[in-house]
Amino acid sequence: MPNFGLGVFAPEPQSDGSLIIRILVTGGAGYIGSHTVVELLAAGHEVSIVDSLVNAHPAVLPRLARLGGRDPDFRQVDIRDRGALGSVLEDGFDAVIHFAGRKAVGESVSDPLGYWDTNVAGTLVLLEEMRRTGVRTLVFSSSATVYGNTAVAPFDETLPTAPINPYGETKLAVERILEALAVAEPEWRISSLRYFNPVGAHPSGTIGEDPNGIPDNLMPYITQVAVGRRERLSVFGDDYETPDGTGVRDYIHVVDLALGHVAALDYLARNTGYRVHNLGTGRGYSVLEVITAFEQASGRKIAYEVAGRREGDAAAAWADTRRAGEELAWRAQRDIDAMCRDAWNWQRQNPNGYGNEPTA
Ligand code: UD1
Repeated sequence: MPNFGLGVFAPEPQSDGSLIIRILVTGGAGYIGSHTVVELLAAGHEVSIVDSLVNAHPAVLPRLARLGGRDPDFRQVDIRDRGALGSVLEDGFDAVIHFAGRKAVGESVSDPLGYWDTNVAGTLVLLEEMRRTGVRTLVFSSSATVYGNTAVAPFDETLPTAPINPYGETKLAVERILEALAVAEPEWRISSLRYFNPVGAHPSGTIGEDPNGIPDNLMPYITQVAVGRRERLSVFGDDYETPDGTGVRDYIHVVDLALGHVAALDYLARNTGYRVHNLGTGRGYSVLEVITAFEQASGRKIAYEVAGRREGDAAAAWADTRRAGEELAWRAQRDIDAMCRDAWNWQRQNPNGYGNEPTA
């Protein structure tokens, strides 16, 4: 249990002496949000979720209750709906973890206004309503995509940012808003977490990643090939300057990522102002290495063919994790085998994701 500084979140003591904080999780029904909710409940916190359900399935909610041992409070709210979001915040929270947003790179190119509206205008509504209701502690879901694709790995937090698509631009715009807010109003405590490549699932296989339509990302594509939903994977390029020619990324187990949010809350209990941290393992794996690790973990052969490079892809990206290690006292514990095993365990138990379950 993290040691929240008394008076910072005004935590409520429980009968066993540990402290509860009340946390609002926006986008808490989504992939990373749902795994974070489980870890917050496990740490004894009170959790409320708001989610528009545009990219999440309501079947996740009873599953969260099963994993967490109690029902998280849920409200179907779009963060752009000021009245609805404000009335939730009036219930009183110590902190907000803000996942709600759109995250598909290709879609952000075809619908930039939609991306700026949800990701940036939506965040402005959240910040204004937080201020109105006296909540000034925030953990924001950012992305390593803000580094762009020209820097040389490992990426540390001081690198210049250079996003190359509207999705990345919106993440960076929010970071800048948050930084300016913490300068203007020094009582805010704000953390931006730059995720590398989240993969895997809760080890129980109860919750996991369930993308709409054809997966854009590597791991869900592999698991859908393994379960027979897709014929073969296209490997986007084998002529990069990497050891085997395929793209190298820093895959991080979603449970480690979730625990990074718990660590960030603990950090904010001790620090005011604004701070950025990378969340990655600090180690890169190529596409072919991920395929091999997945085949070993699942016992399934993954059919693939080499296709051309995907526009906008970098050769190699992995995190410099020192700042998170030193300041958050957090490091990723789960290796590529655990990532593949848990991704497979989820997909095997839920071949159609949440799709077959009646809605809650
Ligand atoms: C992508 C997004 C990034 C976003 C992240 C969210 C792009 C260009 N980048 O990152 O902005 O923050 O997802 O998780 O879309 N690959 C294949 N075949 C596939 C899919 C992927 O070979 O079908 C390769 C890619 O070329 C890359 C690696 O697998 O080398 C990882 O790809 P992906 O999972 O899409 O993540 P990123 O491209 O790193």
